[in-house]
Amino acid sequence: MEKVGILVVCYGSRGVAIADAFKRSLEYETDLYIVDRQKNPFNARIAKEHIVIPDLNVNEICKFVKKWEREIDFGIVGPEKPIIEGIRDLIEAETEIPLICPTKKFAIEASKVEQRNLFQKAIPEVNPKFKVFDPADYRDVSEVKREVWSWLDELNNQAVVKPDKPAAGKGVGVWGDHFRSREELFEHFLANFKYGRVIIEEKLEGEESSFQCFCDGKRIVPLPETRDYKRAFEGDEGPNTGGMGSYKDTGNILPFMTEKDWDKEIEIANKIFSELRGKTSNPELRGTPFYIAFIHTAEGPKILENNSRPGDPEIMNVLPLLKDDFVDLCMRMIDGNLKEPKIEDLASVVIYKVPPTYGGFNERFPEKVRREELGSPVDLSSAEKLVEKYGGRLRLYPGSMEVRDGETYALRSRAVAAVGLGDGIAEARKIALECVEAIRGGALWFRKDIASKEHISRSIKRMKTLRKRGGRDKA
Ligand code: GLY
Repeated sequence: MEKVGILVVCYGSRGVAIADAFKRSLEYETDLYIVDRQKNPFNARIAKEHIVIPDLNVNEICKFVKKWEREIDFGIVGPEKPIIEGIRDLIEAETEIPLICPTKKFAIEASKVEQRNLFQKAIPEVNPKFKVFDPADYRDVSEVKREVWSWLDELNNQAVVKPDKPAAGKGVGVWGDHFRSREELFEHFLANFKYGRVIIEEKLEGEESSFQCFCDGKRIVPLPETRDYKRAFEGDEGPNTGGMGSYKDTGNILPFMTEKDWDKEIEIANKIFSELRGKTSNPELRGTPFYIAFIHTAEGPKILENNSRPGDPEIMNVLPLLKDDFVDLCMRMIDGNLKEPKIEDLASVVIYKVPPTYGGFNERFPEKVRREELGSPVDLSSAEKLVEKYGGRLRLYPGSMEVRDGETYALRSRAVAAVGLGDGIAEARKIALECVEAIRGGALWFRKDIASKEHISRSIKRMKTLRKRGGRDKA
């Protein structure tokens, strides 16, 4: 069996799922060189070399890669921070190792303003109405306030405030969720505006879905659509999180989508891709340059935002279903001869178990926090037994967890993901639920309505109403 050395830059469960996909290769013997934010129990067990770099500093990662340059054949990067900071540019300049992720220039996740401008050029109908406010254009607060007010008149107050840069200021704020008056909106706006440009765009009504694709620079190959659950609490309430779970149906589309929606999404992604690729090829786009958050509206799919890396949790819905060897697929991405990957026709459901502080659960539901478990180690052993019981139909991916003194502890972010696979969503969900319920300790909690029949039926009903309103009910 051919031996391959692979660098995996990991942030949480998404990186663990990537590492697992390599370890399951039937064609290659894989030696994994894993960079982690902490001693992740899964990665520490399977890695040939494992290093902890808590802030994923690109220079530190590069030092590690140089040390193992002769052993590593290629690398892949999961999280956005090192991609935006130019990890690929640095490592490809300093070593002979190709990386799977876009270069800094093509990490379009770095700027929401540039994204909107790009979409406006490539396919303007996917943009909501939007306006960019740049601090350089205003003399004082009253001047920008006047202009914000006049824009809100035009949007009838139905607005979303977005900072240009990821994680700048207060982040994305939505009318009706984060603010209910213009003054509150403006306060949110200013908290972002002091860091740089801010977009105020039309709030769209519809159902969200996640589009992901792989890219070799010449073409993009779409992966089946998934649905993320961004809000912390059941019924889509509470603050936005990184994603509490996600589902994928059998086939390529979600139960509330039509084949026409799917075709339109592929057309949109291809138009944006063509704009960046030029006539034939742009290997700088290699990786997952488009993980697009779509919203399906009365007028068809529109774009909420684009990310330049795989979705977390969404890529976990897809990787366990790849029929192609993932090492081979990555080599094809590097060589520029990517083919449509073959995917098992199963549904999948990811459910995250998270610590009590995550999403503000302990403040909103103090009575539900299992106080006797606070600070205790997390016991994954029963869940691991279920992984054995279900064979290939269950995966368990620790994320924000670390091994300390022989025990496993949850840290501050999403602790552990259960991925259930099934002939339908209901079966996949049942398996994932059984698994998260078997995880003990750490006072961890999870959203109980991920992929529930009721949640999915509401999405279907809402889309029917919207399609009728938009005259698209025969779509
Ligand atoms: N699921 C949200 C993200 O990956 O950004």
